[in-house]
Amino acid sequence: MKVMPLTSRGISTSRLVLGCMPFGGGWNNDPITETDRLSAEKAVDAALSIGISMFDHANIYTRGKAEETFGGILRNRPQLREQMVIQSKCGIRLADGSVPGHFDFSKEHILESVDGILGRLGIEYLDILLLHRPDPLVEPEEVAEALGQLKSSGKVRYFGVSNMSVAQMRFLQRSIPDQFAVNQLEMSLGHLDFLNQSILVNQESGANVNFSEGLMEHCQMENIQIQSWGPLAQGRFSGRSVEDEPENVQKTAALVQQMAQEKGTTPEAIVLGWLMKHPAMIQPVIGTINAERIIACKDAERQSQLMTREEWYCLYISARGQAMP
Ligand SMILES: NC(=O)c1ccc[n+]([C@@H]2O[C@H](COP(=O)([O-])OP(=O)(O)OC[C@H]3O[C@@H](n4cnc5c(N)ncnc54)[C@H](OP(=O)(O)O)[C@@H]3O)[C@@H](O)[C@H]2O)c1
Repeated sequence: MKVMPLTSRGISTSRLVLGCMPFGGGWNNDPITETDRLSAEKAVDAALSIGISMFDHANIYTRGKAEETFGGILRNRPQLREQMVIQSKCGIRLADGSVPGHFDFSKEHILESVDGILGRLGIEYLDILLLHRPDPLVEPEEVAEALGQLKSSGKVRYFGVSNMSVAQMRFLQRSIPDQFAVNQLEMSLGHLDFLNQSILVNQESGANVNFSEGLMEHCQMENIQIQSWGPLAQGRFSGRSVEDEPENVQKTAALVQQMAQEKGTTPEAIVLGWLMKHPAMIQPVIGTINAERIIACKDAERQSQLMTREEWYCLYISARGQAMP
């Protein structure tokens, strides 16, 4: 049986990941409320109840409050830590006064960020640290020094990237001895360029595709886990109102609903199962904080195994709004 790249590296994890971006309230400096804490804990419990063991963070989510809220749950229930794979990200600086938001892969920023992450989560080590978005001013040797220090001090076990092209991964990897374990990118029925890139080689319409050429193949060859952010397409195909959406979205939402009914499952499981059928063994990072919707994702892996090639293409073509070339 095929195994996930992360599993084959010795990281035992679920196929689905819970994205913790909405934890802790808004992206402001308001204090975390009891309601925020309770809804986060309900989401974590719902995730655990369907076998999700991996949790995705970033130091910037709700300005640090997402990690702080999660840390509060772990402080009350420390036995949960060892059952979890905890991933976070750094490398983005939010706007501050007159300084606009920007990216920062300097050694100092990476080291400081990880100390902040561990402090807020209240844990000794991160399982995986991702470099959040490519910084054009990156000096790979500097990143290598930072990651080397984090590894040798035991603060981080594995490293990865997010929103990076093949060239950017290779450029960094020349200086970094630890092989990246993850690349996290936006992929869903509503964000299809990861597939369009491979079917439009040598086609004029391929000029409009916005996905790093060969990235899917590179990650598969190098045993790098591809994670998809935005995998539910913010609910556009699984129950959110589509009244104002284009025709292809409306038709695809109806097709998802029909398939779910015929198969006795949920629209969420169809939408995620479609992504998970890809041979790269994509790991969806779901961003819902609604416990019922989290539970509605439970059947996704099974649906990915049951989905036929024809069904998979029907969904792809419908969402693309165009026949295959
Ligand atoms: N690496 C990156 O650059 C990056 C960027 C963005 C996000 N991420 C990660 O990926 C995770 C997921 O991203 P995402 O939030 O964009 O993904 P998503 O799972 O596609 O969307 C989740 C959002 O859609 C809403 N939603 C889902 N189904 C719905 C329905 N049927 N009706 C109404 N609303 C519905 C959810 O609201 P409810 O909570 O009310 O269900 C939530 O706001 C984040 O938590 C974060 O961990 C990473």
